[in-house]
Amino acid sequence: MLNSPQRETRNRILVLNPKGGSGKSTLVTNLAACYAQRDSTPVVMDYDPQGSTTAWLERRPADLPRIHGIVAYKKSMQATRSWQLRVPEDTLNLIVDSPAGITHDDLRELTRDACSILVPVLPSAMDIHAASRCIADLLLVAKVDRNERKLAVVANRTRKHTKSYANLMRFLDSLGIPIIAVLRDTQNFVHSAEQGVGIHEMPESRVQPDRQQLDNIVRWLDGWEERRRRAIELRKIAQDSAQPDSVLHKPQFGSA
Ligand SMILES: Nc1ncnc2c1ncn2[C@@H]1O[C@H](COP(=O)(O)OP(=O)(O)O)[C@@H](O)[C@H]1O
Ligand SMILES: [Mg+2]
Repeated sequence: MLNSPQRETRNRILVLNPKGGSGKSTLVTNLAACYAQRDSTPVVMDYDPQGSTTAWLERRPADLPRIHGIVAYKKSMQATRSWQLRVPEDTLNLIVDSPAGITHDDLRELTRDACSILVPVLPSAMDIHAASRCIADLLLVAKVDRNERKLAVVANRTRKHTKSYANLMRFLDSLGIPIIAVLRDTQNFVHSAEQGVGIHEMPESRVQPDRQQLDNIVRWLDGWEERRRRAIELRKIAQDSAQPDSVLHKPQFGSA
């Protein structure tokens, strides 16, 4: 059976950074391969007209676990748009790849139903600047509530001990947004993209450190329901304490 993608029984993961080349499609395809190896068929929804994720999926060897692809960048008529974007009902993980240079309206639209938002960031000064704008837009334009802890950063193509790497870490720390993984700059990602596979589908001896970092991302993503539950609790506590006339503070009948 097919269902609307808006249902929150699945983790809808948005990978976003309006700067091209930051590693969005790399992250989307590798996460999809992790989920495909681990549990039920994941879905990748490709909003980028460059179609890198869709092309990767077309290259994917037929004997590997299936990943369901949705080509969202080809706009159909309104009447058939929801049919085009339909997601199989039993999908546990839906990963959305986004294009470079999106408008504020697109940003609002893409983030509206997201349960988790990952921003891959490269360590150059220009990329750090672009990422800070992207994160500010997420908070101020798309009104992503930091208390909901939906938002995390993945530092990508890092080379440790460089100045830009240290700058990146300082920048992310200052925002109080978690850096859930640090992916190194390695040809493993280039080869996995070429072959239509994920890092988890390559010989372990070659990719072990990269796998570990991807596992950190998946672990954080798997906590999405707990994060949401906690955010609802916190909102309720904040609302209750903001009500001065709560029944507890009213004088009891008959008291002096
Ligand atoms: N950690 C990495 N190490 C080496 N190459 C990488 C890494 N991450 C991405 N790349 C390469 O950088 C290029 C841009 O990455 P991509 O995921 O397509 O970015 P985006 O989708 O944000 O435009 C691709 O050729 C990809 O293989
Ligand atoms: Mg891309």
